Amino acid sequence: MKNAAPASPVGLASNDEAALLDLLENLKQHHGFVPREVSDEVSRLVEVKLERLRRIQSQLDTTIRRDVQQHVTRWRDEEGNLIMILHAIQNQHGYVPREVAMELSRELGVKLARIYEVITFYHYFKLQPPGAHSVTVCNGTACYLKGSGELLNELRSQLGVAEGQTTPDRQIHLDTVRCIGCCGMAPALVVDGKTCGHVKSSDIAGHLAGLRAAKEVAA
Ligand code: FES
Repeated sequence: MKNAAPASPVGLASNDEAALLDLLENLKQHHGFVPREVSDEVSRLVEVKLERLRRIQSQLDTTIRRDVQQHVTRWRDEEGNLIMILHAIQNQHGYVPREVAMELSRELGVKLARIYEVITFYHYFKLQPPGAHSVTVCNGTACYLKGSGELLNELRSQLGVAEGQTTPDRQIHLDTVRCIGCCGMAPALVVDGKTCGHVKSSDIAGHLAGLRAAKEVAA
């Protein structure tokens, strides 16, 4: 049996995408096509939605432009200003968003490729938003000799990501660092800013469970 004819879209809000999609699906099932008057109405609602999104995008663009201009003004005449500005951007966002890098390229008159060369050369700069939590493996000589490689392998395997990457749910970021100055505690990890020494591979699951439990408590 076919569904009852769907109601007219009149009264649907343009931010109710799920209802619009359901309506179109129902119309197709009922009539085999979307009647002209309905498609006109849906197009109008979509245009309202797009206009709203354009206004939001324009406000974001203005904010990005203003922030980048402030950084450039602060560092314009300093030697090595590109790196200083990138530091400021990363401190602000936790990474260097592509749209900000593009605006910086325009404002500073430096090719975007050059900006990405610098970002990718220095380990410190990130191109993706950081995870809610971080696990950093010390890969300095003392830690390396005491087995930091095994810790890293265990973390890669349990998190399913490589160093420099964040889990797909953006919860845990894995990274490495060269000596955190606690060589007497080798091998060492830094978990959400807390240094953990004499870590064994068998401890990794517990550290990750602690981070995931923190996420659930916060949720
Ligand atoms: S090498 Fe790891 S703390 Fe120094």
